[in-house]
Amino acid sequence: MALYLVTGGAGFIGSHLAEELARRGERVRVVDNLVTGRRQNLAHVPGVEFIEGDLAELGVARRAVAGADIVLHQAAIPSVPRSVEDPLASHRANIDATLNVLVAARDARVKRVVYAGSSSAYGETPVLPKVETMVTAPLSPYALQKLVGEQYCQMFTRLYGLETVTIRYFNVFGPRQDPSSPYSGVISLFISALCEGRQPTIYGDGEQTRDFTYVANVVDGVLRACEASGASGEAINVATGGRISLKALYRTVRDLVGGRGEPLYAAPRAGDVRDSQADIGKARRLLGYEPHVGFEEGLRKTVDWFRASQVAVG
Ligand code: UD1
Repeated sequence: MALYLVTGGAGFIGSHLAEELARRGERVRVVDNLVTGRRQNLAHVPGVEFIEGDLAELGVARRAVAGADIVLHQAAIPSVPRSVEDPLASHRANIDATLNVLVAARDARVKRVVYAGSSSAYGETPVLPKVETMVTAPLSPYALQKLVGEQYCQMFTRLYGLETVTIRYFNVFGPRQDPSSPYSGVISLFISALCEGRQPTIYGDGEQTRDFTYVANVVDGVLRACEASGASGEAINVATGGRISLKALYRTVRDLVGGRGEPLYAAPRAGDVRDSQADIGKARRLLGYEPHVGFEEGLRKTVDWFRASQVAVG
């Protein structure tokens, strides 16, 4: 049994990775500073070793990485608008912590680091779908920070021989995505608003598009990246390869929830990208990845989870 360190493992995507690794019988350690993560997200996962700490401190990173075979570096402040409002805090979480994890992983002779990259790296490049060979054009501090983290990973592979793989995520959604902040992912915000009888807000004209990806697909892609030969030093899109407008998303969520009415509209967000859609050919080739859970099926599972958790608290 290998020891996997999931940084940010009490967060949305990290907790799904921890859960799947535990299900497969692997040993799991989580480090999380509980800024956006919650202990509750791991309550149902047996046998997880938990370290509370901030990876922006090198000592915490070294303690977390000690003895790990594989590091899944998911810890981040994952929000475009939050990074626009407070670039220093998100720099610390997204870049300083990443460099510490890489230094600690290099020194502890970790076999591989799989890093949570972001589709935001593509920014305003006009061509769709986004292919990994495109020149990057980050539009927000968050996008730039995620890209710097990715480039640090590649540099550590070249300079020190530490195996790293970056998985570029595209608008991941699913159970346990936290809707409680205005910075939360749009799907969690739409579902929670409609379930509570409130009107969601669309920023901009609603014609912007995203490759919304159900979290189980991402878990599959990341765990494949832990093993795939020929993936080290690479950045790889993991998504569905489709795109859906915000207006269409709103209608689909409204119909699933059984809500009524039209959304509110507000000015577009600073740093917002117009269109985002992944080319997933590289993930297919290097990882043998296929998106097995489609958008609507994933949305149904997510709505079911939100309803069940509302019943649980309410
Ligand atoms: C971006 C990144 C994504 C990253 C995520 C972290 C791109 C293409 N994607 O996602 O890789 O993981 O940041 O947060 O850059 N919106 C509304 N109403 C709301 C909330 C959001 O209309 O209440 C709109 C936003 O303006 C945006 C879209 O919905 O156009 C998606 O927003 P969000 O879920 O925050 O993610 P991105 O910013 O696309």
